[in-house]
Amino acid sequence: MAMTASSRSASAAGAQDGERSPFARLTELLSPYTPGKPLINMSIGEPQHPVPGFVGPVLASHISDFGRYPIAKGIEPFRQAAAGWASRRFGLTKAIDPDTEILVLNGSREGLFFAGIAAARYVSPRKGTPAILMPNPFYPAYAAGARAAGCEAIFLPTTRENGFLPDLESLSAETLDRTVAFYLASPANPQGSVPSRAYFDRVKQLADRHGFIVLSDECYSEIYTGEAPGSMLASAGNDFANVVAFQSLSKRSNLPGLRVGFVAGDKNFLARFHELRNVAAPQVPVPLQHVAVAAYGDETHVDENRRLYRIKFDLADQILGNRFGYRRPAGGFCIWLDVSAHGGDEAATVRLFRDGGVRVIPGSYLARPQADGSNPGAGYIRVALVQQDSETTAEALHRMVDVLNEARGS
Ligand SMILES: Cc1ncc(COP(=O)(O)O)c(C=O)c1O
Repeated sequence: MAMTASSRSASAAGAQDGERSPFARLTELLSPYTPGKPLINMSIGEPQHPVPGFVGPVLASHISDFGRYPIAKGIEPFRQAAAGWASRRFGLTKAIDPDTEILVLNGSREGLFFAGIAAARYVSPRKGTPAILMPNPFYPAYAAGARAAGCEAIFLPTTRENGFLPDLESLSAETLDRTVAFYLASPANPQGSVPSRAYFDRVKQLADRHGFIVLSDECYSEIYTGEAPGSMLASAGNDFANVVAFQSLSKRSNLPGLRVGFVAGDKNFLARFHELRNVAAPQVPVPLQHVAVAAYGDETHVDENRRLYRIKFDLADQILGNRFGYRRPAGGFCIWLDVSAHGGDEAATVRLFRDGGVRVIPGSYLARPQADGSNPGAGYIRVALVQQDSETTAEALHRMVDVLNEARGS
């Protein structure tokens, strides 16, 4: 088979296509083309709503704290604010202990990555090659974490047929016995699926039975237009054994550049994770933790944020209707469109950019091929509804309908 431009440069760099940044691959795919209309970028999940008004004043009043090295576990006011917020928000029967059951993170990405390494060190020896489970498609830090941990990454296809959630009952005892960690995403990126309470309960049961840790990525939990998503922590009992959940202010508070999040749950795992973080992970500047204290103490800006996303999803409902398999997701701000009848994901991405000036990302770039060669992201595009104003969103959606309808069957 002829090598594509992207596979040539990938092998030159020594990495498989699936291991490279999806965005680097997208840049390569689109590099021969210029946008046919003023560019609207919907490829990156970077919130564009306004930064909350309290950020500047809080930062200004803590400027002198830039003169201190931050401690790895986070300042006490941060741990109290974040633990209190999560315990209330998810109706936990036992509140998260701010001393032992929470650590600050420099955004959830680095935490998810380092947690894979910590998990491989923490769990008891496995029968066979240690493995880390993850959905497919998935957020790239999961596979990077599994690789750095020296574990086999096991990709669990998430498709329309299984409600875009890994099929837990398809996992063999042999696989579960060698699993050290399970990255679970709720709401999932890219499809926005949210597990039921029964699903979370079953994950906890499997983790306890087989002795692995659940790394539950919940950074989109505050972006929803219907029912508020639950947390894996609510299914983890009073000691949160074998479960940790990751949170972030990037999406909840439109602060992707602040780099503040946290991980909460199993105190035994977090003690070991803290040891690793203390020597290897990025600390979080103290003034930024004070901003986070203010953010977790305020829901007004979060409600406003959800209102703005709701307007965009209402537009998607109107403009897309049931085209391209569109359905409003249970959570998150991405839409996942089936373009298999419109030239496939790479060809549709090129056309949308070249003819419509809309930049999206091919679904196959967000997933890995399964053992049978099928890629569960193939045939889909991910569209991030992150533009600040609804007029731009409406314009992009109209252009997408026009361009894709022209490409039907091509
Ligand atoms: C599913 C998912 N998890 C984690 C992250 C990391 O976010 P942050 O490091 O900003 O908290 C992202 C960012 O887009 C994401 O989409």
